[in-house]
Amino acid sequence: MASIKEKLPKTVEKYETKDFTYLTDSLKGISKEAMELHFKLYNGYVMKTNQINQLLKEVDISTANHNYSDLRELLIEKSHNLNGVILHELFFSNLTDDETKPSEILKSVVERDFGSWDKYIENIKACAKASRAGWAISAYNFRDGKINNFAIDQHDLHMPAFVIPILIIDVWEHAHITDYGIDKPAYIDAIFENIDWHVVSRRLENQFSDLLSE
Ligand SMILES: [Fe+2]
Repeated sequence: MASIKEKLPKTVEKYETKDFTYLTDSLKGISKEAMELHFKLYNGYVMKTNQINQLLKEVDISTANHNYSDLRELLIEKSHNLNGVILHELFFSNLTDDETKPSEILKSVVERDFGSWDKYIENIKACAKASRAGWAISAYNFRDGKINNFAIDQHDLHMPAFVIPILIIDVWEHAHITDYGIDKPAYIDAIFENIDWHVVSRRLENQFSDLLSE
């Protein structure tokens, strides 16, 4: 009989860069050049996260201090870089060149929480405009049971705890400067032509296993 230790989920010692090159030349309104630069940047976050994790194994924790300490600096950069990895992976994987539609469950929740699908889209696009250099996130909030929209600056500022992101939009300058210069709203409109609503629906429905099993 397997021991509890043997049954524990597998761990990851080193992050690997995921392959999203299928998106390189297929998205509407987003150039190959912009995507290639974006993948390079994402790869940088993966490399830095691995480097920081290694340094965290070696750092002297006896000097930990909130004013300045090696541990503190590494922890701050870990949150920044790890979120840089995760948010980019969630963003790239909710993009597609296929025509997709939201599921009935996603539409029902959106209509309940925002009044209508159009009002929801208007709201999340506005949140994307309100984010400085960062992200707009639609997330399922376990505390109120609703979809909440958030604006995240950088990768790690104003990130709510205990919510599940279902739709992630990158609105850093690097995401729009190549194709749209500083016209962020035009870039946001273009991204919304490429959303994989099947993926977004599935991310929400994964939280509703009881409903789906009835
Ligand atoms: Fe990005």
